[in-house]
Amino acid sequence: HRHLLGIEQLNQQDITTLLDLADKYAELNRQPEKHGDALRGLTQINMFFENSTRTQASFEIAGKRLGADVMNMAMQASSIKKGETLIDTAMTLNAMHPDLLVVRHPQSGAVDLLAQKVNCAVLNAGDGRHEHPTQALLDALTIRRAKGRLHRLSIAICGDIAHSRVARSNIMLLGKMENRIRLIGPPTLMPSQVADFGVEVFDDMAEGLRDVDVVMMLRLQRERMDGGFIPSEREYFHRYGLDAQKLGAAREDAIVMHPGPMNRGVEIDGTLADDINRSVIQDQVEMGVAVRMAAMDLLAQNQRAARSAVAS
Ligand code: CP
Repeated sequence: HRHLLGIEQLNQQDITTLLDLADKYAELNRQPEKHGDALRGLTQINMFFENSTRTQASFEIAGKRLGADVMNMAMQASSIKKGETLIDTAMTLNAMHPDLLVVRHPQSGAVDLLAQKVNCAVLNAGDGRHEHPTQALLDALTIRRAKGRLHRLSIAICGDIAHSRVARSNIMLLGKMENRIRLIGPPTLMPSQVADFGVEVFDDMAEGLRDVDVVMMLRLQRERMDGGFIPSEREYFHRYGLDAQKLGAAREDAIVMHPGPMNRGVEIDGTLADDINRSVIQDQVEMGVAVRMAAMDLLAQNQRAARSAVAS
């Protein structure tokens, strides 16, 4: 692969190869001396047109740990504010010969479009409601390390599925790895094409969580609700918020996940989120750096191979 635009383009082998390498980087990241040289001499530009804490910080750390020259474009201070288009901005940066472009954008499809215009590898750091591939990969690595496998697990994804690129990428990845997926949430927050996903759908947490191995909670994404259904937080927590009592329906060893940013007391009880016996939320953040190191390492290897094929 030349780019990492979505889980849709990956097969089981691609996913396993990436997670195996990420596992090695996860071990490196726990050493006092964390540096590798897989990206030495390469230039990585991070372009975030939408807010981010975890994704931007981990892509920056991942690039620096592997020796890349990393630049974070301050998009709020860029010439986008003067009317320059996304494509003109990308072409301008492309002329500076970057090797890796990491892009987050509020519009679905914007990152794919940009990838067609530049000469370097593009990594999708989240585009609208479409895909967030490195999030699904870090979730998969977290599950594989906690459960010892990434197949034949029963996994519940709960809450605002309709507006979630995290849910879309996870449904594709976990489906490709042959897991059973349940979606739980209010019908108004289910995507209209849910019948095509090959998943079970529930409106009731007690029913949907019964005997699952993994519970993945999602934030209510109000910024993408464009005036439609916005539930009251109290009522939403009562019906769909995860707490110790609702988690009681899942397997005794079920793990609790959340991609962040989380809203405590809305989709998840704060005490449960902090319970290290059940919650792997901090592990997800840790695995985020390892997965992004692996993704950029593999794309850089592909880029070197393609460049030497052209040269020879
Ligand atoms: N999970 C995630 O994408 O978090 P950020 O929006 O903080 O990057």
